[in-house]
Amino acid sequence: AHARLVVDDEFKVGPVHDRVFGSFVEHLGRCVYTGIYEPGHPTADEEGFRQDVIDLVKELGATTIRYPGGNFVSGYNWEDGVGPKQDRPRCLDLAWHSTETNQFGLHEMASWLHKAGGNELMEAVNLGTRGLAEALDLLEYANIPEGTARSDERIRNGAKDPFNIRMWCLGNEMDGPWQTGHKNAEDYGKLAASVAAGMRMIDPDLELVVCGSSSHTMNTFGKWEETVLEQTFDKVNFVSAHAYYFPQILPDGSRDMASFLASGVDMDGFIKDVGSAIDATKSRLKSDHNVYISFDEWNVWYMGEEPSRNPEGIGNWPVAPRLLEDIYSAADAVVVGDLLITLLQNADRVHAASLAQLVNVIAPIMTEPNGPAWRQTTFYPFSLTADWAKGGSVLEPKIESPQYHTERYGDVASTNAVAVRGTDGSVSVFVTNRSLDDECAFDIKLPEGFTPHEIEARTLHDDDIFAANTLHDQNRVEPYTNDSASMHDGSVSVVLPPVSWTAIHIR
Ligand code: AHR
Repeated sequence: AHARLVVDDEFKVGPVHDRVFGSFVEHLGRCVYTGIYEPGHPTADEEGFRQDVIDLVKELGATTIRYPGGNFVSGYNWEDGVGPKQDRPRCLDLAWHSTETNQFGLHEMASWLHKAGGNELMEAVNLGTRGLAEALDLLEYANIPEGTARSDERIRNGAKDPFNIRMWCLGNEMDGPWQTGHKNAEDYGKLAASVAAGMRMIDPDLELVVCGSSSHTMNTFGKWEETVLEQTFDKVNFVSAHAYYFPQILPDGSRDMASFLASGVDMDGFIKDVGSAIDATKSRLKSDHNVYISFDEWNVWYMGEEPSRNPEGIGNWPVAPRLLEDIYSAADAVVVGDLLITLLQNADRVHAASLAQLVNVIAPIMTEPNGPAWRQTTFYPFSLTADWAKGGSVLEPKIESPQYHTERYGDVASTNAVAVRGTDGSVSVFVTNRSLDDECAFDIKLPEGFTPHEIEARTLHDDDIFAANTLHDQNRVEPYTNDSASMHDGSVSVVLPPVSWTAIHIR
């Protein structure tokens, strides 16, 4: 098969937003405890932060970190996680049927982010069991320099300087019946509008994210966005979108890999649909304010399968159980790369995104307690894209591609790609071959007058599409240099193996 991408400087989608390379740390399973925080671990520093994990987070290139949930936040009292550690309460975490020890809270997160490379904190407030008053308390505690009860308490707790958190989520997945304090769109919209207005009385320049839908397939999808945005439009900057994909099991017991590899088609449609809801609301309200999409949970997640079963029982609330510890395959990494391509293609709409999550819980980084940390297959498309795309401009993807058939989405392009023009004049192209069977000869037509002197192509592919990196085989799947890449007369050619993700850096 043959496919072709035309890289044209004249047509820009928008800048590559740094925040598109965000990730997510939730108090869930072992993301925090024995993930980023493990006092006593051989690499832990004086605050109990694992240095091996910090090193991998830096290498991953994650920017904004969403915290502390997720479903967890909808039952969380942020005050329980500040102050002397010995006084912090042990609490029930209803979302994940676990015990929250509160040994890690806002101060630890701020300090960890500083050590992990100065990443931005994106804080979520609890609009499940709590509301306006507690959100205002938290904002005062976090952002007021000094001289009020809450800000002085923060200083007593060790943080002289305010945390200066710019981006805030107004709750989490409030459309989901599983959410503690789940609400209908009317009630949530009213609450979110009042919380947004209150928070802006403290600081009008905050960037606020209102909850959109937990998935494209929610029954309330669309109507939810319009109802919530109608009430909050001028008070918020983002509406969230969440999406998780996995290969469905077919009646014959096999997995629907063809549809799974085309997950980007669904994500793209989801973004376009939310974009339409934004535009419709904006014009109905005659507003000149802009609202963008924060795609603040996205990933492959084998939802509903064994690792994602919550603990059960009135007397059984474990601390940091192994939960959602999905082990990712080469095919999963191709899908993650494809989703990231899709997010970039929509840079005009999607100004922020968070790969959910960062460590151990549906994560690119895995750890063992008192043991090593390693990169899952999905680590690589994220880190390479972040490395080569940050700071650049996304060009309109003009792609000619063969099609293939999927059960879920009908006929779809077998090649998905995006080009980013770097400020240094380089061109980076990220491309997937979704086909299960066919190799693809991929040509990139370079911009007029661009005469590169160097190309580097890195491909992630394994002949066994289910191959994975595990504790005992940590480097089984890694990107390799794709030697087929060549340059001739204003274009670059590269051969893409079936089920593969490739990054090409041309300068
Ligand atoms: O990321 C795992 C969970 O997925 C989050 O807690 C929740 O927001 C979503 O349903």
